[in-house]
Amino acid sequence: MASSTESLPGTSDLFAAECTDWRLLEQTAHQIFPLYGYGELRTPIFERTDVFLRSIGDETDIVQKEMYTFTDRGNRSLTLRPEGTAGVMRALANAGIPQGDERRVYYLGPMFRGERPAAGRKRQFHQVGTECVGKVSPEIDVECIAMLLHYLASVGIPAGRTRLMLNSRGTAEDREPVATALRAYFADKVGAMCEDCQRRLTTNVWRILDCKVDGCQETIRQAPSTTELLGAPSREYFARVCAGLDELGIAYQVEPRLVRGLDYYQHTVFELVFEGIGAQNSIAGGGRYAITFGNQTLQGVGFAAGLERLLLTRTELGIAPTPLPATDAFLVSLGDAALRRNLKLAAELRQAGLAVQMDLEGRGMKSQMRTANKVNARYALILGDNELERHVVMAKQLATGEQQEWPLAEAGTRLGQ
Ligand code: HAM
Repeated sequence: MASSTESLPGTSDLFAAECTDWRLLEQTAHQIFPLYGYGELRTPIFERTDVFLRSIGDETDIVQKEMYTFTDRGNRSLTLRPEGTAGVMRALANAGIPQGDERRVYYLGPMFRGERPAAGRKRQFHQVGTECVGKVSPEIDVECIAMLLHYLASVGIPAGRTRLMLNSRGTAEDREPVATALRAYFADKVGAMCEDCQRRLTTNVWRILDCKVDGCQETIRQAPSTTELLGAPSREYFARVCAGLDELGIAYQVEPRLVRGLDYYQHTVFELVFEGIGAQNSIAGGGRYAITFGNQTLQGVGFAAGLERLLLTRTELGIAPTPLPATDAFLVSLGDAALRRNLKLAAELRQAGLAVQMDLEGRGMKSQMRTANKVNARYALILGDNELERHVVMAKQLATGEQQEWPLAEAGTRLGQ
């Protein structure tokens, strides 16, 4: 049996040395998305279950197999958010968007899916995502993809190392004609496919295209291209998306059977793949969608990138981990009076923004110096009765062993140099 201190499968404890890279991904999001007019939105980690059911779709793997759903003490069915878009749309619908207005928001945080844990596949994972809601135009979709690539390049993942897959799911008007063609194709083949595909033939035939079971792949590959089955307005919209990407010099590959794992998509869908991080190689995905809450239908376009997968990608690209912030000084106290004076000195230095550690147990000089080296301090500042009397401190640069006396009052400025 697993020991009780282990974190649950598919979850992680992240210590300081790992958090530096996480913070880099998060801070870059705060820098890049506002350049495009996006503001941060923080929504709850759990929502009423129907928020996800109505938007993600009954027949999706997320809803059918992966949601962490529970009944609370008030007998309400609640779900830990499996993705960000549905909760963001609920929040925007609640806040209200005046007709003809646009809202641009970005978010970061944990998401929860009860999937089989694997490299790059967690049960608690983290996304950074954006949504641009209220207006419909192929150029907004293009800008969204360009912004995703800008973000990734800013965290060290250049567009040239990834593959952008693109497709269109058309609009509500295209849904039935395409479904009819897909049903006609799959009808006599579905018997040899998985149980989910057999059921989806009647419940939601589009979903068959997103099946991940190995044995179903060959049949899916031969299926009619959804892109070619779309009506003229949707094909025109898609052509403009492609033209916009061409204009920006963004390379893409049209994948006529890419439908993605969520039912809310309309028009553009895309996925960004990085080869080399194992089977879970989709590092980001998104598209245009329409989600209805009550009498409001919100239309938007957005994407989400998985932070765990971005970190794996950075490692695969050979990017060194972001180092922990350095310790500027370790204060070594020889005797009680020095210890008391160092408490004050440490407070002053920290107020000045310097990272300072010290021994608080009155240990001997040798073990204090050992700790100073262990924490990788730039300087050991040694204070004894003799130094105290003369208002100085002995500053030892640990990398070189060089020693110098500094006036105590100048310790902050000297360390800051
Ligand atoms: P998604 O494709 O389900 O889309 O997830 C987006 C990204 O989250 C994936 O490309 C992947 O990097 C990461 N991800 C998903 N599941 C896991 C997991 N179990 N472990 C680790 N990483 C994972 C969405 O969530 C949509 N809400 C995207 C969107 C925004 N569409 C429009 N707006």
